[in-house]
Amino acid sequence: MPEKRTHSSNDVNLRAADLVAAMTLDEKIRLVHTRLGFPAMGKNKPEGAVGSAAFAPGIARLGIPDLQETDASLGIANPENVRPGDHATALPSTQLLAATFNPELARLYGEITGKEAHDKGFNVLLGGGLNLTREPRNGRNFEYYSEDPLLSGRMAGQAIAGTQAQGVVSTMKHFALNAQENGRVQANGLIAEKNARESELLAFEIALEEGQPGAVMPGYNLYNGEYASENAYLLNELLKGEWKFPGWVMSDWGATHSTVRAALAGLDQQSGEEIDAEVFFGDALRDAVTAELVPHSRLDDMVVRILRSLIQVGVMDVREADPVDYEAHARDALSIATEGLVLLKNDGAVLPLTSRFNRIAVIGKNADKGVLSGGGSSQVIPQGSIREASPQQNDFIRTTVWHPSSPLKHLCEKAPHVEFTYADGEDLNEAVRISEQADLVLIFGWQWMAESLDAPDLNLPGDQNALINAVTEVSPSTVVILQTGGPVAMPWLDKVSVVLAAWYPGISGGEAIADILLGISAPSGRLPVSFPAEISHLPRPQHTDPELSNALPFAEMRQDICIDYDIEGADVGYKWFERTGQKPLFPFGFGLSWTQFSHSGIEIAEQRAENVSVRVCVTNSGNQSGTDVPQIYVESHDGRFRRRLAAWHKVTLEPGETATLTFDVNARFLAEFEPDTRLWKINAGQYSIVCAQHAGAPGIRTSLTIRQSSLAAIPELQLK
Ligand code: BGC
Repeated sequence: MPEKRTHSSNDVNLRAADLVAAMTLDEKIRLVHTRLGFPAMGKNKPEGAVGSAAFAPGIARLGIPDLQETDASLGIANPENVRPGDHATALPSTQLLAATFNPELARLYGEITGKEAHDKGFNVLLGGGLNLTREPRNGRNFEYYSEDPLLSGRMAGQAIAGTQAQGVVSTMKHFALNAQENGRVQANGLIAEKNARESELLAFEIALEEGQPGAVMPGYNLYNGEYASENAYLLNELLKGEWKFPGWVMSDWGATHSTVRAALAGLDQQSGEEIDAEVFFGDALRDAVTAELVPHSRLDDMVVRILRSLIQVGVMDVREADPVDYEAHARDALSIATEGLVLLKNDGAVLPLTSRFNRIAVIGKNADKGVLSGGGSSQVIPQGSIREASPQQNDFIRTTVWHPSSPLKHLCEKAPHVEFTYADGEDLNEAVRISEQADLVLIFGWQWMAESLDAPDLNLPGDQNALINAVTEVSPSTVVILQTGGPVAMPWLDKVSVVLAAWYPGISGGEAIADILLGISAPSGRLPVSFPAEISHLPRPQHTDPELSNALPFAEMRQDICIDYDIEGADVGYKWFERTGQKPLFPFGFGLSWTQFSHSGIEIAEQRAENVSVRVCVTNSGNQSGTDVPQIYVESHDGRFRRRLAAWHKVTLEPGETATLTFDVNARFLAEFEPDTRLWKINAGQYSIVCAQHAGAPGIRTSLTIRQSSLAAIPELQLK
């Protein structure tokens, strides 16, 4: 893909400062608030808007383009069909992308969204959602990455970099601790600084280093008692101060709550102003600047930050739009989906399906038509999608969308010798009848998740568990394919032969599923989230009342809902399960392939102040080609911190083949944040470096001795 040219940061700062110096007060104000880019709240689409989430008119006399901002990470949305008939490539969920454990695919993913955004006339992509999965019921987990700071930060960072290489600014969002949708505008996340710095904030820090996003979007939620969008600690102190973020902070839609307070705390732009109680960053900000309640230099800073990112990313360099090559992007979506499917169980090597199965029953809603997607502002609706009323409706989201990629159709095409029968599973008797007559049953389970509403529990909705149980009674072999927005319970696990996690697999998802089932492709995904065995094992089994699901942020504010994130603190996901001794149903990092791998000879190859090189031999000990994802975890012997993912590789090996891999373990994964000094400290002592197949496996280990404690300012611990 053609990439934009890069600018040195000196040039960028000078150009931005020159532009601001030439602007009038009104012109500056014009850039710091955006309107909805589609007709809403009784207003027409703004003149000049391409049609999307938000728009601000540019300043033609200075060559500053209109801001055309579009959702989002999973592809280019078309809210309210504002661009009639326009469609886009619906990529698999970013959760699936995380399951590939493949940063190159993350880069490609970002490039695709960036290219489509550019070619449709947008210059800002509201992508880069990377909140850690603290709450498996969170309705937006599918739009995020994982429960681990390194995996989330690195994958999101690569996607952001890919987008921006196309000359489109990407956000990273929702900064920070926007961990659930129920009550999202009232949720007050309480967390100690050390715990946050070693978990969610570390993910954002890594994504910032790797992706250098031009903009950051705070969440709807409150963070330690202050709205994230006017939180001086998050925005001024940490993001712009310690992390030296040079870009701009834009509010989430409906998440600006004040003028002076927000401006002084570090918010640079009010987004989608119609949704807020007031246009806080329009006339009100002009008045506040005139009255010197907000220094003029602060307004200049807001504008410089916006212009700086536009210049840096190449938005100001005119580049012709090309027609979108949807076929090529669908092929890329297939590669991504195929690598992100996770094989969780394959008893008796039922997969890949071979000629021993001649009559296969396919059961499950819409398996003959398409694959499920997640709802909300990130929703992409490609041509031919199936739309239906949502099972759980609220003000924000009323439609469930199935992407037109039918697993059944692809199975029929790719396995013409097999006699397939199909039932949607609505009628249990019919499902049982066709199962009785089959050699094998494929059941497609689904769990629809959406922005603005969390799942009530971890169960597949409706009667699906009963359906799967009933089928297992009569079927010689049952294969469950799950299309979900995260972990689900599997009360039937012992009775089925195969479980394949397909997440929301996107526009080519049906083909990816068929290819794995038939052995045309080999599974190589690994879980980016732990699957809990029971709700009672979670840090907060009792979830926030869905009645508090203020989908629309301007809904009348009630009391804050305090959520204690210090229960698990930095021990999110697999670290929590390790701490509590609870065994998850499937651990983080887990995934099977057609073959087996063994790891041996772990050793420290080199120990430096800023990183440690670790060598491991990985052997394909089975009899088929396959891909392994050996994971390096760090443990402290004195229990100062739990097992932390510090590096991984993805390697494809032929039977009997061995590769010697070198892993780069950055010293930050040995370090702990010290709130008093605001530095990371590496404590003298003994550590283990573990190579394991997943977070729950003992793995092989070697020990590492740190002789002298050291304090390091963060910049010295840059991720390699
Ligand atoms: C979401 C953001 C999104 C924005 C614009 C909000 O509801 O939280 O992620 O970018 O809408 O559509």
